[in-house]
Amino acid sequence: MRSIVLEKSGGGENFKLVDIDKPLLTENEVLIETKAISINPVDAKIKYSEEGLSGLVSPERPITLGWDVAGKVVAVGNKVSKYVIGDLVFGMVNFPGHGKAYAEYVAADESQLASIPPGISFTDAAVTTLAALTALQALKNNVKAGDKVLIHAGSGGVGHFAIQIAKKMGAYVFATSSAKNREFVLSLGADQHIDYRTQAFEEILTDINFVFDTQGEQIATKSLQVMSAGGKLVSIAMIEIPKILQQQAKKLTLTVQAMLVNSNGDDMAWLASLLAEGSLKPHVSTVFKFTEMVEAHAAIESGRTVGKIALTM
Ligand SMILES: NC(=O)c1ccc[n+]([C@@H]2O[C@H](COP(=O)([O-])OP(=O)(O)OC[C@H]3O[C@@H](n4cnc5c(N)ncnc54)[C@H](OP(=O)(O)O)[C@@H]3O)[C@@H](O)[C@H]2O)c1
Repeated sequence: MRSIVLEKSGGGENFKLVDIDKPLLTENEVLIETKAISINPVDAKIKYSEEGLSGLVSPERPITLGWDVAGKVVAVGNKVSKYVIGDLVFGMVNFPGHGKAYAEYVAADESQLASIPPGISFTDAAVTTLAALTALQALKNNVKAGDKVLIHAGSGGVGHFAIQIAKKMGAYVFATSSAKNREFVLSLGADQHIDYRTQAFEEILTDINFVFDTQGEQIATKSLQVMSAGGKLVSIAMIEIPKILQQQAKKLTLTVQAMLVNSNGDDMAWLASLLAEGSLKPHVSTVFKFTEMVEAHAAIESGRTVGKIALTM
């Protein structure tokens, strides 16, 4: 099968299209014939770091990256009970860990997948994976109807799902992006848009119950100023919350937490149900060919993509 491997850490020049054996299945895995995949900032960042690759993914070199996949089940392990050959599935495979999604065939534990609802395209399914799971896992159990929620980078892969999920939960949503993405952010259901380039959100907002930080320490620190007592901030842009930020939050009776997304079939099933009822609409701004991995990585690295990008086989 064709796979795109990274020969060693570094830039896109280290990607190589190779012919390798199809993955062997363990008893709980299905073999997916890949129809579309998606990539995320983590794919782009991790490729530059030998330690990062070994720690988050695997010490294997050359290494097949990628976690987000949509496709058709073509083989099943002995103990697989949810899927049969021919089923259409999608999911984020083995995150954190080795997903090996940049390939024509991907082995995935059935517990990490969901069925693609009828009428949903492979590209829409492929993008409703890592980014959507991140948004869901950050918001669930933290946001309730009537909450005022601030989502930083509402036009990004994670943010555009987070706005829709927060609205589904009944929240009042403020979301940031630059001015060019204002209409997009509002079209997702955000109640108010803030242009982070010309407006200081910390001078405008008050009484926010939940902040979704996608940007890092500086934005997270400013965000504390706009929160109401008892509020919570979840950051996906910091591995650990710095002590100083924790202390500031404590003084204000706020909670701050760093989060790393995890593969989870129940969460995938919830996303699938939202796709089926039409209350979650992925926005795919560019579809690349599988062989355009270098270009796809360059797009993600720009930090300016709107919604998600996908690659098709
Ligand atoms: N911890 C985890 O589990 C986890 C999971 C997923 C993602 N992440 C991280 O979360 C971050 C966001 O991921 P993503 O997939 O949403 O990224 P993305 O799709 O690349 O985000 C791009 C968007 O960010 C907006 N943006 C850039 N700088 C901004 C700023 N200062 N304020 C507000 N918006 C800004 C851009 O809008 P404009 O062009 O309008 O500026 C663009 O539309 C990344 O750092 C990623 O690595 C972490």
